[in-house]
Amino acid sequence: MNFPMNGYPVIRKRRNRRTAFIRNLTNEFNVSSEDLILPIFLVKGKNKKQKIKTMDNVFRYSIDNAIKVLSSAYDSGITTTILFPCIEPHEKDIGGSEAYNPKGLIQEAITKIKLALPRLGVITDIALDPFTTHGHDGVLNQYGQVDNDLTIEILKKQALSHASAGADILAPSDMMDGRISQIRKFLDSNRFENINLLSYSAKFASSFYGPFRDAVGTNTNLGNADKKTYQMNPANINESLHEAWHDINEGADMIMVKPGMPYLDVVASLKKEFRVPTLVYQVSGEYSMLVSLANKDLNILENIVMESMICFKRSGADAIVTYFAKEISNWINR
Ligand code: PBG
Repeated sequence: MNFPMNGYPVIRKRRNRRTAFIRNLTNEFNVSSEDLILPIFLVKGKNKKQKIKTMDNVFRYSIDNAIKVLSSAYDSGITTTILFPCIEPHEKDIGGSEAYNPKGLIQEAITKIKLALPRLGVITDIALDPFTTHGHDGVLNQYGQVDNDLTIEILKKQALSHASAGADILAPSDMMDGRISQIRKFLDSNRFENINLLSYSAKFASSFYGPFRDAVGTNTNLGNADKKTYQMNPANINESLHEAWHDINEGADMIMVKPGMPYLDVVASLKKEFRVPTLVYQVSGEYSMLVSLANKDLNILENIVMESMICFKRSGADAIVTYFAKEISNWINR
């Protein structure tokens, strides 16, 4: 390329920003409703809609109400959901056995949602934290440490129960080593070779998960403990490349980065390095942060949320898990 004229006053970059139609013509990225994944928190019972203290306007729903919410979300263009259970304290145990109960809350929800909305994509979370009395994503050994290989044995059963219930995509978020290959082999040997695995490859030990732990009721179980022996150190990006490399080699069909906004460099690096479907999770703390900013000036919610979405796309994300999914698709459709 040879540009004979260099710079101002011939060059005026502002010309392409002059009017809305020109700005839209020269837009590099767009967000569409089909890129969005709506998380749903579930409780057992009928006609339930429970407030979540730390997440304004996000609720826990019983399955019947969740279907209503998902059905209207689907009508507005949302094609995918990800499900999280909040079970009763007495259903939890140290081994997280409720995780693979074929009649458990999630298993029942998957089946009923797929029956009511067969074209809605259902993703489920593979991890034990909603089911354990100690709130960890895995089971503990005699020293109180999260035991990698014992945990994988339970995750395999959990994964099979979700696949059997009709889930489309399973998303291991536990961060155990080797779980992708073990779950893949186990699913394949049970004739679920077509179920996709979305690996939370770069999941950081983040304080932005606080409101989520309130939503699924694991805050009190976890107490002062943290997840730093399995979730990644926020200071590390090389390590996130290694994690993703292993997951892809073990059979992950898609990878995910989590949290989102503070980790856009990780999204960009993974996308550039591996060129595989790369998702990002705008987590609960990011949601509440944006909502509390908007609560000071309601008119800016749409602007800040849409800006965050475009930034995710620009960083290389193919799809985004966000608690704002319904609102965004309504804004897009308007
Ligand atoms: C649990 C899980 C967590 C989130 C998704 N799956 C929390 C955690 O690891 O403690 C967080 C999501 C959010 O904050 O919105 N395996």
